Formats: sequence, structure tokens, C-alpha cells
Amino acid sequence: MQGTLFDIDVEIKTKEPDISEWGTFRDSLRAPVHGWFTYPAGFSYKAVEHSIEQADLTVGTSTIYDPFMGSGTTNLVAKSLGFNSIGVEAHPFVHRITQSKMNWDISFDELNNAIEKIQKQVSKAERPEKLEPFLKQEFPELILKCFLPETLFELWTIRNSILKLDSTKGTKEFLRTALICVLRDVSIAATGWPYIAPNKTKVTSMSKKGWETYRNRVLKMYGDIVEINRKAYKGKSTHQVLNGDSRNTVGQIADESADHIFTSPPYLNNFDYADRTRLELYFMGEAKNWGEISDQVRKKLMTSATTQINRTDSKYQFLEGFKFECPDQYTFLSNAVEKLSELRLTKGGKKSYDLMTIGYFNDIYQIIKDNFRVLRKGSKALYILGDSAPYGVHIPTDELIGQIGVAIGFSNYQIQILRERGGKWEKNPQRHNVMLRESVVILQK
Ligand SMILES: C[S@@+](CC[C@H](N)C(=O)[O-])C[C@H]1O[C@@H](n2cnc3c(N)ncnc32)[C@H](O)[C@@H]1O
Repeated sequence: MQGTLFDIDVEIKTKEPDISEWGTFRDSLRAPVHGWFTYPAGFSYKAVEHSIEQADLTVGTSTIYDPFMGSGTTNLVAKSLGFNSIGVEAHPFVHRITQSKMNWDISFDELNNAIEKIQKQVSKAERPEKLEPFLKQEFPELILKCFLPETLFELWTIRNSILKLDSTKGTKEFLRTALICVLRDVSIAATGWPYIAPNKTKVTSMSKKGWETYRNRVLKMYGDIVEINRKAYKGKSTHQVLNGDSRNTVGQIADESADHIFTSPPYLNNFDYADRTRLELYFMGEAKNWGEISDQVRKKLMTSATTQINRTDSKYQFLEGFKFECPDQYTFLSNAVEKLSELRLTKGGKKSYDLMTIGYFNDIYQIIKDNFRVLRKGSKALYILGDSAPYGVHIPTDELIGQIGVAIGFSNYQIQILRERGGKWEKNPQRHNVMLRESVVILQK
């Protein structure tokens, strides 16, 4: 597609950036601090850096806002470059990890001290005679399937030792994050991302020891902190890392307080962010089953998965404000929803894509309105996202977000395609053959 990307004419630039991976977490996984927690929904830190370079921002005073902060890619880049940042994340567990990623003030002496204490606990921990029944009392079935009993006992000891440390909050959070980030490394189940296959064994992890892998991870993470601090802008910047709901941030974020928005909302693709952290929540003892994950996480997120839908709930109607302010988009989506509600009756899974679509666009409408309020006049909001085709019904989410933005007050929008997606499914007869894409939608206030 022709067009401009973040104000650069990509057709005539001789050194074009490779934009095809900007919607994926690959670059970030290899970067210090960014890659601590593998978040399959994350995007590339290079995309954020590039958009900041192109925007008219001032180091030390300009503020960058990410309403779907996730693992904090936008905020980490802002901090490295010396800009202020605000991030909102509704998933409490992910928010807490990101908060610790944003703390680069870790004392080596204190950390070393804490590590020695944990090591002592691990070496003197008395392994129960009947280890497996003991672990069964502590952990849900999924966790028992994912780890060798000896390793799980070591991880359990580390987890409890961290809780008992008398270190500062920052150090304890750092150590907690390291433990969470090591879980999938030492798991013997195929804990691929995002979901877990407990019945498939990952042989490469059979010989990994819990304590050693953990200690190495802590040291590697500390090395990352040293590196990021060394390269970072040395002046002062402020960072608000909020656990909240970006559909309505009135009272938390002031009007016209952001000079740039860079974000990636959930896609309309049935990805369950709550389920993504199931292994971690179960291991940390923060949830024991689906219901607890729903209460703590699923209910707090904007609609983007059928697992969030309860068909008896009457809230799945388009909002009056959306119908009134965005009549064309409402008409388009009403037709799509009608098709989806007919199609679901012909499918085995009877997935609630119809209600999911209504919920998704109600939420997107509120978020764009709130983003408009928070953004300073003359600034831009950039959204990385993919379109989708539930049951083969194409929903051009990027176009719709652009149009909704203009309908609620933005002066114009542009779309730049990052990559085509979905080709690998072509041979699967169960899948639709609509070619999908990942794009950046740029709204100008
Ligand atoms: C596509 S991910 C963003 C990932 C992020 N760009 C990164 O690099 O890690 C979307 C995020 O939005 C979060 N989310 C969902 N509903 C939300 C809401 N109402 N308010 C704030 N965050 C929400 C999800 O938990 C998820 O972390």
C-alpha cells in the first residue's frame, strides 16, 4: 500500500525500516529489560522509537501515553529516551510485572544479600518425605504436570523465601518478577506461548535445576538494569504506571496531558489475555481455577474474546452514543453482527462472535473518546492492530477505528499496513480464506 508511515514516505526513503515485525514481540524479546517476560501480545520497541523520532516531542517535558500498556514497551522506550510516560493496564498481574520493569533503581549489594538469604533457605529446606502428596496440597493439577517434583519444590521454596525477605519493596518485586519469568524455562511441559500443553514433554528442560536457573536469571536481569541505565537519557522524567481501565480514565489522567499516544489494543481475534497468565497465577497461588481468573482478570478487560461473553447478559447492545456519533460504522457493524449470529447456529462451536463484536466496538468507541480527551491538540494517536474475519466475516478494524476517530472529533486518519497475515492458514479447510493484515492507524487531533 502507498502511504506514509508516521510521517515518513516509506516509498522514497532509501533506508526503510523493516516494519513487518513491528506488530510482534520479536525485537523486544532480545532487548534488555523489554524481554524479561515473554508477552505474546507485545510489540516491537523499534516501532515506538521510530514514532517518537517522527513526532514533535521535547525530551524532559513531553508525555507519551499507552492506554494498553501490557508489558510496558512504550513506557520503557519513553523512559530510556527521557520522555515522561503514562501507561494503563487492566490485567493486574501483568501490570505488576511492568511496574517492576520500570524500576531501574536496584542496589546490587541489597540484591546480593537477598540472593544469599534465598539460597540458604533453598539449601536447608527439608524435602517432605512424601513430596508429591505435599505438592498436591499446594498446587492445582496443571502446575503438577508442568514441573518435575524436585524442581517445583525448589521454586516453591524460592517463592516463600522472597515473601519473607526484609529487603525494600523494589528488590522484592524484582526477585518476584525473576521467578515468574523463569517458570516457563524450567517447565517440562510444552509451555509454548501463549498456551500450555501439559501432556507434551519438553526434554530440554529435564536437566534444568530450579535454583541455578533462577539465580542466573536474577543476575542476567541485573545486568540488563545496568545496561539500560548506562544507555538511558540521564535527565529526570516521570512515569505513571496505572492498573486501571482505559475505557474511562477521568480522574486519573488529566485532559490534554499527553503529547503522543502509541499503543496496541487487543485485536478482535478471540485471544484470551486472562488465560495467557494461567500458569503464572496458579504457581504464585493467586488463582486456583477458571472462575478465580475470570473474577480477577477476565472481567476487567475490554471485550476481545468469546470466553468473556455471557449470552444471557443484556449489556451486548450497541451503545446509544456510538449509534448517534458513528451512524455509518454502526450500520456496517450491525450487518456484520446479524451475519455472525446466523452463522454461529450453523457451526459446532456456536461461538459468540456476534456479541463479542458488539462488546469490542462499544469498548473501542469509549477508548478512542477517552484518548481524544487525554491527547493535546495537534498531537497524534497511533494504534497497531490487526483486522479479523470471525466465521469468515471480514471486520476491517483498522478502517473502522480510523472512521470512529474522525466521527468523534479527530481531524483525519491514515492507515499504514505493516504486514499481511493469515497466509499460513490457507491450507486449513476449517479456516476462512480472507487475507488479513496488521496495520498502524494514525489519528490526528
Ligand atoms: C495488545 S496488548 C498490548 C501489549 C503492549 N503493547 C506490549 O508491548 O506489551 C493489549 C493489552 O491491553 C490490556 N487491556 C485489555 N483491556 C484493557 C482495558 N480496558 N484497559 C487497559 N488495558 C486493557 C490487555 O491486558 C493487554 O495487556
